[in-house]
Amino acid sequence: MCGIVGYAGPQHPEPTTRPLDVALQGLARLEYRGYDSAGVATLEGERVQVTKRAGKLQNLREVLGENPVTAGAVAIGHTRWATHGAPTDGNAHPHHGGYDGELALVHNGIIENFAALRAELERDGYTFTSDTDSEAAAHLVAREMQRTGDLTAAMRAATARLEGAFTLLAIHRDAPGTVVAARRNSPLVVGLGEGENFLGSDVAAFVDATQEALEIDQDQVVTVTADVVTVTDAEGQEITDPRRYAIDWDARAAQKGGYASFMAKEIHEQASAVADTLRGRIEGGTLQLDDMSVDESVLRSIDKIVVIACGTAAHAGSVAKYAIEHWCRIPTEVELAHEFRYRDPVVTEKTLVVAISQSGETMDTLMAVRHAREQGAKVVALCNTRGSSIPRESDAALYLHVGPEIAVASTKAYLGQIIASYLLGLYLAQVRGNLFADEIAALMEDLEQIPAQIQQVLDRADEVEQLARAMRDATSVLFLGRHVGYPTAMEGALKLKEIAYIHAEGFAAGELKHGPIALVEEGQPVFVIVPSPHGRESLHAKVVSTIQEVRARGAKTLVIAEEGDEDVVPYSDVVLRVPRTRTLFAPLLTVIPLQIFACELATVKGLDVDQPRNLAKSVTVE
Ligand code: AGP
Repeated sequence: MCGIVGYAGPQHPEPTTRPLDVALQGLARLEYRGYDSAGVATLEGERVQVTKRAGKLQNLREVLGENPVTAGAVAIGHTRWATHGAPTDGNAHPHHGGYDGELALVHNGIIENFAALRAELERDGYTFTSDTDSEAAAHLVAREMQRTGDLTAAMRAATARLEGAFTLLAIHRDAPGTVVAARRNSPLVVGLGEGENFLGSDVAAFVDATQEALEIDQDQVVTVTADVVTVTDAEGQEITDPRRYAIDWDARAAQKGGYASFMAKEIHEQASAVADTLRGRIEGGTLQLDDMSVDESVLRSIDKIVVIACGTAAHAGSVAKYAIEHWCRIPTEVELAHEFRYRDPVVTEKTLVVAISQSGETMDTLMAVRHAREQGAKVVALCNTRGSSIPRESDAALYLHVGPEIAVASTKAYLGQIIASYLLGLYLAQVRGNLFADEIAALMEDLEQIPAQIQQVLDRADEVEQLARAMRDATSVLFLGRHVGYPTAMEGALKLKEIAYIHAEGFAAGELKHGPIALVEEGQPVFVIVPSPHGRESLHAKVVSTIQEVRARGAKTLVIAEEGDEDVVPYSDVVLRVPRTRTLFAPLLTVIPLQIFACELATVKGLDVDQPRNLAKSVTVE
């Protein structure tokens, strides 16, 4: 949601296109976050130039092609995902601030007290030209600049008046060569270059220019010029040691690399992504996690685990529950983060909260993390994005290391989240003595086989793609699974809904007779995820009965089953095979045909696979 980019480079004697080029390239790399308008602002001499357009970045590029803009040393850019006001040219960012439009500002987040601020600023004679909450921030910073003559002080004073969530970036006619930014409950990172510096909603904004980044904490203000980056707190005190980190994402990961979509590419990267999540976890015979700074004695004392997450990450959490309860014998609940926070959950110092998030910026999950910590719980974040808010505000973090995920529909991060949950479960089992070292080693050995097995499933993508093409006119698809197959069914349905816009429902197979079977009529496609016949016999037999039940009512049965499982054949219209693995590890394989199915179906329908309508990659507002 909303992408922000900022650039400060050297003052050239002649106007240059570098600041604008950096801003546009950054915005292109942030497109994946989802947006409906885009804009840039530059400072040329004393002129603050703003260009913005509704729609895709291409519209903005076309206007800039017709009316070229150069810059002195700075530029800011923005992709907007509309909240206050429709996605029009006027509501797009940047917004001018001040009586003469002497400032330009971009904003990510929601300013909750904007109506009162707007009324106050209108009384002072400031003119508003948009319906956005952000324009109030632009005038507010401009008014403070007029009072103080210092853009950093102006930003600090203005943000002290704001309620809600924001990342703000501003440039001003009287502060040439400077971009000032601030954040509260919304992401912001700084990229440190040589003779130039960058700002972004995430490192994707500048990953091709530098591999060095700085974290900006809550309520901090950062002042960026070509050579100096200064971070100050809400009182104006300089932070002398802001946290620096190396960006381990490869710029090439933000390119499609020959695939029709980022989603297709990310699906096909899953074997190596999972290998990366697993890499280097065993040292000296014991399991190691990244930032596991929660004391082992605390981990031994916990009596409950609550997994909090949203969407796909919550499905990964549901898989985690089966594994963690089985290995660690700790009662484990999985709850949607937005529900957790508002229902007054029972959380104590003996509760371990596990927050799962690809982006690390999902506001619902972040708020739930804060709520849990306020109740005294320890929080471990399973996250893909270093430097993001959720791991920063948690007690410990385990990173997925699957590389940047660009497509809105999560695929490789889902597998990374499941693996990370397993690692956490095994770590807890190790610390608490629930499993012996040789048992953990045997499980890890089988996990190490998973990347090769994922590759085997991917090698059969053709079969699934053919099926998807044949079903391009489907209007409803059902997904059934039991045990760990249940979250897989939910995830398969979510993928199809979000990118192919097809009505899809995932059910626990055992629930079928309690209602959903009424939906089954002649020709209704039903995916069934079948557990291994080598696991619990009763589990397998029950799911085979489910296939029979829906088939008897006319369903077209699309079955995902282990190689060699012949029991399913008589009742299946289509069988998609996955290699044999432990029951608990099967979700890493069985979900892949469902991802490929959704991706191919959306592709043949001619839909925007990577940026589905109405959705944003990271949901940074509640
Ligand atoms: C997945 O395909 C979704 N687009 C969405 O459900 C996502 O998983 C959810 O918004 C949580 O995001 P996070 O992992 O970045 O917190």
